Amino acid sequence: MTLLSSAAPQAADIEALRSHFPALERKHGGSPVAYFDGPGGTQVPRAVVEAMESYLYHHNANTHWPYPTSEETDTLIASARSALADLLGASPSEVAFGANMTTLTFHLARGLGRAWGRDDKVVITELDHHANVAPWRALERDRGITVLSVPVLGNGQLDWTILEQRLSEKPRLLALGAASNALGTITDVARAAGLARDAGVLTFVDAVHYAPHVLVDVAAIGCDFLACSSYKFYGPHVGILYGRRKALERVEVPKLAPAPNAAPERLETGTLNHEGIVGAAAAVDFLASFGSGRSRRDRLADTFAFLHARGAALLLRMWEGLSGIAGVTLYGPTPDLPRTPTVAFTVDGWPADTVARRLAERGVFVSSGDFYATTVVERLGLKDGLIRAGCACYTTEEEVDRLIAGVARLSL
Ligand SMILES: Cc1ncc(COP(=O)(O)O)c(C=O)c1O
Repeated sequence: MTLLSSAAPQAADIEALRSHFPALERKHGGSPVAYFDGPGGTQVPRAVVEAMESYLYHHNANTHWPYPTSEETDTLIASARSALADLLGASPSEVAFGANMTTLTFHLARGLGRAWGRDDKVVITELDHHANVAPWRALERDRGITVLSVPVLGNGQLDWTILEQRLSEKPRLLALGAASNALGTITDVARAAGLARDAGVLTFVDAVHYAPHVLVDVAAIGCDFLACSSYKFYGPHVGILYGRRKALERVEVPKLAPAPNAAPERLETGTLNHEGIVGAAAAVDFLASFGSGRSRRDRLADTFAFLHARGAALLLRMWEGLSGIAGVTLYGPTPDLPRTPTVAFTVDGWPADTVARRLAERGVFVSSGDFYATTVVERLGLKDGLIRAGCACYTTEEEVDRLIAGVARLSL
């Protein structure tokens, strides 16, 4: 018996889903808190916290020793690799854990960059979070490579003509995001990876803002590497790196000589955040528990179909409501284009952080600034940044209406 058996969810389904999140009981300014800060980090369900607590209370140990708590830790990490592999459509031996996406990307870039020099190029995009910019820029300084960028167009999408031109310059790697954490743009990374493959170029995908909204399928994307972060999909602060097995076996990442040399462990530095890894797996199981199907991957696909339909409806409501308010400008792709339910906007005469503060007074939590997607915010000419409201699985129509009413009230 699953909770969300259809793509047309009932209010009762959403209430049942919301009951898993103690944070939703919080009140601020006399109102229940409406969390629109999911693109910065989602709330965490009870099952995830309980899994982490259980690990720390009952199984806590370092790995690879012959006594029960250490063996249990090894087993839990192995089953977490399977859970995250199911989320990504990968095999467990292709999944490495780390502190967060940024740290994993710097680590991978350093490893790949060891084989590159003055004649080598990497292509990045203007739409990306700087976690998918700085690690490759660092190789300009450290290895003398050249970084080429793909511009973003006025509709919030990448310029594919330039992307193809960049690939014709035979770079080593194309690094691009599957979804923009600032504008919500979903980029067709399967198409990009296909073009890259045809040109003999590796692809690294930043799926941090994509993974909470669309079921990742690394085989369908055809990328060589992909990274995401469990705290964006209802888990704790842990980063996940997928790499094609051969690629993970070859990359010359810095590592301690006595540490395991086999993939994927060779990508992992030091003692990991075991309780976080257990929690990340529990987040995958939490998501899967709302879907039906024989395998965990099938159940995840079912849940994500629901999340997608629900996110699209909430996005439309938010877009139409906000665009009807005088002085509000919305950025990024219109709702008919591929996008996540994350809306970025400004209000004439109101600094972004003041808007966020005023909304927070009424229990509506939105983020403000550039969200480290610095280049695209600069291209939009927004010195003061954006206001960002993102829907998560627990967002309701009533919360969206409260956000719209709160913004409308500013100009009164
Ligand atoms: C699109 C995107 N990429 C990368 C990151 C960095 O992720 P992490 O905090 O796991 O390093 C973020 C964080 O907000 C993000 O939204």
